[in-house]
Amino acid sequence: MTITVTPRHPALGAEVRGIDMHRSLDAETVKAVRDAWTRHLVLVFPDQQISDQEHVAFTRHFGEPEIFHQTSLSLRSDRVREIFLVSNVDEAGRLMRPSEPSQKQLSSSRQWHTDSSYRPIPSVGSLLHGIEISRTGGITQFINMYMVYDDLPESLRRHVEGRRARHDFGMLHRITGAPPPSAEEQTAMPPVWHPLVRRHPVSGRKSLYISSIYNDAIEGLNEDAAGRLIEELTAFSAQPKYMYRHVWEPHDVLMWDNRCTVHAVTPHDPDERRVMHRTTIVGNEPVIAA
Ligand SMILES: [Fe+2]
Repeated sequence: MTITVTPRHPALGAEVRGIDMHRSLDAETVKAVRDAWTRHLVLVFPDQQISDQEHVAFTRHFGEPEIFHQTSLSLRSDRVREIFLVSNVDEAGRLMRPSEPSQKQLSSSRQWHTDSSYRPIPSVGSLLHGIEISRTGGITQFINMYMVYDDLPESLRRHVEGRRARHDFGMLHRITGAPPPSAEEQTAMPPVWHPLVRRHPVSGRKSLYISSIYNDAIEGLNEDAAGRLIEELTAFSAQPKYMYRHVWEPHDVLMWDNRCTVHAVTPHDPDERRVMHRTTIVGNEPVIAA
């Protein structure tokens, strides 16, 4: 297969044509996609009307799909366990209300974060398939955290160099009012510390590594100061010059790098159905401090 790659924004994001996710990729095409991914950080594959099984099979070209550890909120598909449901419609087709526990927890995705950063070895990337898309919002926004790091003003830079931040899955319930993780889930995912500045194992570049929905502490700072720093870093990051905003079309598949980007979704009318299925690629090495 020959692919064509067209940038969507100067900072990050590119459209990839020439891929058919119904079919397995040859080694050369996998390499071409990997190279485009390293360069553009977020890839958009339009018109991929795939099943969940095909979604998982495509993901496996790039790594092992994660099995979400939390089962209490039905965010993991019962049908294909590698699928994480980013939806306001349950698997029986029922529209869920924003007050339901799973929807409360998902509302955290409106704040800037990177997927699975609360794991000791965080995820490499995620692939999101838009099955029923929103027309009233639901825009997924991405930030190039290499550029953010390169441009950090000295007043912020001196607080992040050589420091680590804590990432805790348990933060989700504290910020959204969703039920707390069970004792078992908490034991499975204890808080972890990662460097605030990381080096990408493939590109070799440095990026700022924050995940505001999980970060609850920073080395050497009290709770208030840590919260303020994460807020300031997040606000500095969220500038249009670093950001690609993806307006969905049905059966777009997006593939992004969780090691050098953060993302957040815009709100949408809760009466509108939005069905998105995600796979998450398991990390292959601890975060490298830079
Ligand atoms: Fe996410």
